[in-house]
Amino acid sequence: MNLRNEFFILIFCFLRRKAELCAEKYSIIMNIESLIKQNRSYRRFDGRHPVEKNVLTALVELTRFVPSARNAQSLRYFITNEPTMNEQIFTTLSWAGYLKDWKGPSETERPTAYIVVATSIELKNAHTTFDAGVAVQSILLSAVEQGLGGCIIVALKKETLAEIIGLDKSLEIVCVIALGKPVEKVVIDTMEDGNYHYWRDENQVHHVPKRSLKEILLNP
Ligand SMILES: Cc1cc2nc3c(=O)[nH]c(=O)nc-3n(C[C@H](O)[C@H](O)[C@H](O)COP(=O)(O)O)c2cc1C
Repeated sequence: MNLRNEFFILIFCFLRRKAELCAEKYSIIMNIESLIKQNRSYRRFDGRHPVEKNVLTALVELTRFVPSARNAQSLRYFITNEPTMNEQIFTTLSWAGYLKDWKGPSETERPTAYIVVATSIELKNAHTTFDAGVAVQSILLSAVEQGLGGCIIVALKKETLAEIIGLDKSLEIVCVIALGKPVEKVVIDTMEDGNYHYWRDENQVHHVPKRSLKEILLNP
């Protein structure tokens, strides 16, 4: 290899690294580690930023490829980005139970889309919530990759929500994924005193205590 070629390879490597850093910074391409770390539970969104229907459809399509216990694939999904339906769904949800003084996102900071996750009553089994966890995390990681974010909600009025979305009697609701473009800052703190309650500081930064590796890894 002559000096000229080496020079071009060097320039190429430099530019590629620059592009990677840039992509990471602007959430264009993220590796799995940064996706997982950036995938926080977001509860405040830009209410003017729509989530397109085709994006929601693609998120559901993705779940066709995730594992499920006994390969039963009992989960079904209802998607909406429609303001009137969104407002009705919002009334059934409970937000951030530990934040006693916070009643949930204000009108301008509400999710602009939802995915309601339901299960077929016939196909559900002892591991259905496990299946939902796998599917929901996959959806959220993909959402984060696209510059969106969300929150899993299980504290909800399931019967009211079933009526609102006209859910067939053969199905029951497992959870809701609230989605949109996050506008809140969420930081991870290392848990020090065993207190796992998340909290907000005076600048409305949301703090989530996480257990240390030392605590969770049994055989370091
Ligand atoms: C199964 C499950 C159910 C949850 N239900 C709710 C809920 O009903 N309301 C809510 O505001 N957050 C809910 N969350 C979000 C958790 O509060 C959140 O994951 C936790 O505070 C840690 O924050 P992080 O997701 O940013 O790591 C739920 C999360 C999971 C995994």
